[in-house]
Amino acid sequence: MEYRHLGKTGIRVSELSFGSWVTFHTQANVDAAMEMMSAAYDAGVNFFDNAESYAGGQSESVMGTALKQLGWRRSSYLVSTKIYWGLHDNVNEKNTLNRKRLIEGIHGSLERLQLDYVDLIYCHRPDKTTPIEETVWAMHNIIEWGKAFYWGTSEWSAAEIVSALEIADRHHLHKPVTEQPVYNLLSRHRFSSEYERVYKDYGYGTTIWSPLASGLLTGKYSQGIPADSRGALKGYDWLHDELTDQEKLSKVQALEPIATELDCTISQLALAWCLKNPFVSSVITGASRVEQVHENMKASEVAPKLTPEILERVDSIFGIEEEEED
Ligand SMILES: NC(=O)c1ccc[n+]([C@@H]2O[C@H](COP(=O)([O-])OP(=O)(O)OC[C@H]3O[C@@H](n4cnc5c(N)ncnc54)[C@H](OP(=O)(O)O)[C@@H]3O)[C@@H](O)[C@H]2O)c1
Repeated sequence: MEYRHLGKTGIRVSELSFGSWVTFHTQANVDAAMEMMSAAYDAGVNFFDNAESYAGGQSESVMGTALKQLGWRRSSYLVSTKIYWGLHDNVNEKNTLNRKRLIEGIHGSLERLQLDYVDLIYCHRPDKTTPIEETVWAMHNIIEWGKAFYWGTSEWSAAEIVSALEIADRHHLHKPVTEQPVYNLLSRHRFSSEYERVYKDYGYGTTIWSPLASGLLTGKYSQGIPADSRGALKGYDWLHDELTDQEKLSKVQALEPIATELDCTISQLALAWCLKNPFVSSVITGASRVEQVHENMKASEVAPKLTPEILERVDSIFGIEEEEED
């Protein structure tokens, strides 16, 4: 496992990390979570991603119990959480980054995670109604109080990120250090075009999500939706159209000969492709069972095999030029 600096911070994250969205509580109980986290940790993963909204807070509870039972040295790993959507359908408590919500939110997350601090706290989405300055001050305070060490953004626009960076700079506050954007072979436009200046000019890091497009980039959806997959879960109907999109599925299938040539699976090839981007600090992988973790962790060994010629062949399948022109 390679470790990359999180942007221009001193902290290094494993290039492959492990997150709990959809899976913890819904598909994986504490035992399964421990098994998967151990497999990731043994492979060198040092960063575990979570959010207060995942499974209505239960994902943090599962991870917290798992971490407690695993008993790893706290300084040997990083945990993150994210706040925005909230847990209660009430004014000031949902879809907001106001000061009260962020500070109450971090307290709730730490309680569920059974931790004294998280290493990273993200604003899970931008909030168009709270002044960015209020959010920056609240995040600064959370860090000053030792409840988190670094903070970041998720799916903020480049302009919003720059605004937060400048406010923090002006007031000598802790700056956000990383974005958490979607990035995979099928969703790369924003990462490559909009954010590039933020990485280059400000040294912003990125911990990228859904590297397998929720499993579409494994190739397993080519014969329909498998009964034991995310696509078959109750409440995830919104993913159906995406997971059964014939144009996307045929692109995924076109990866097969390249994967065979490289002696790897389509999933490993898709993850390795994300790793090749130097602006990616960490690829947050997801898994519903331990076999997937074992398979995915080997993507680190596949990445060095992705020569410029292979990358060109992959790009020719996914048509990056067309995407970047629109
Ligand atoms: N900031 C944000 O807004 C945001 C949004 C989404 C995710 N995230 C973070 O990013 C993490 C990863 O996202 P993701 O779970 O969507 O990642 P993903 O890699 O796109 O999808 C993971 C899912 O694909 C299937 N899968 C994974 N490896 C496989 C393999 N080798 N073979 C077959 N199936 C495989 C599993 O689902 P099944 O087995 O159920 O099919 C697994 O749960 C999340 O856990 C979360 O921490 C952040």
